[in-house]
Amino acid sequence: MPKLSIIIASTRPGRFGPTAAAWFSERATAHGGFEVETVDLATLDLPLLDEPQHPSFGAYTKPHTQAWSAIVDSSDAFVFVLPEYNYSLPASLKNAVDYLFAEWAYKPVGFVGYGVLAAGTRAVEATKQVMTALRMMPASRSVAISLSEHVDEDGALRPTPEMDDTAEAMLDEILRLSHALATLREPAGATT
Ligand SMILES: Cc1cc2nc3c(=O)[nH]c(=O)nc-3n(C[C@H](O)[C@H](O)[C@H](O)COP(=O)(O)O)c2cc1C
Repeated sequence: MPKLSIIIASTRPGRFGPTAAAWFSERATAHGGFEVETVDLATLDLPLLDEPQHPSFGAYTKPHTQAWSAIVDSSDAFVFVLPEYNYSLPASLKNAVDYLFAEWAYKPVGFVGYGVLAAGTRAVEATKQVMTALRMMPASRSVAISLSEHVDEDGALRPTPEMDDTAEAMLDEILRLSHALATLREPAGATT
């Protein structure tokens, strides 16, 4: 089964990210098409990009880069669980993405976005643009969580049936893309 890594993008204390990721991880496991793993950027604790070489060389000098590279390299597909910060993606996610290059190529990525007014949709669209620079294929379907409509005062997520359906459709799409894109990743590490 392809390995799906769910990336928790926000890192601040008290963040909502782990709540959204726990719900989505359950959906992804129930889907049955993937080996599911959750990766928390807060735990990874990457500093601002501190590698001397462009990541396309793969000449990583820092243990944190090597650890992050191994996680992404061993994944076949991704779902980013991300908030909207100032109409865009959080800097923690952009920084983590920028660290690597070949590890992302020809892999699908889906999104569970969340926010207040636009339910994270602007952050998701902004992230898609970045991911295509790395030869990734964004899923067309993405989950949008409105913090004002879908989250209780106590911070609990109240998923709607539509949200569950969208998660399922997105996972189906990611699975199909993952099989199709795997052929472009041979021989291993090819990026051209
Ligand atoms: C720096 C910052 C910028 C934000 N900008 C937006 C925004 O542009 N649109 C929006 O809907 N919510 C915005 N919010 C509200 C966040 O969506 C909300 O706080 C969310 O819980 C943040 O995700 P997190 O809890 O995982 O950090 C912003 C929050 C922060 C901390």
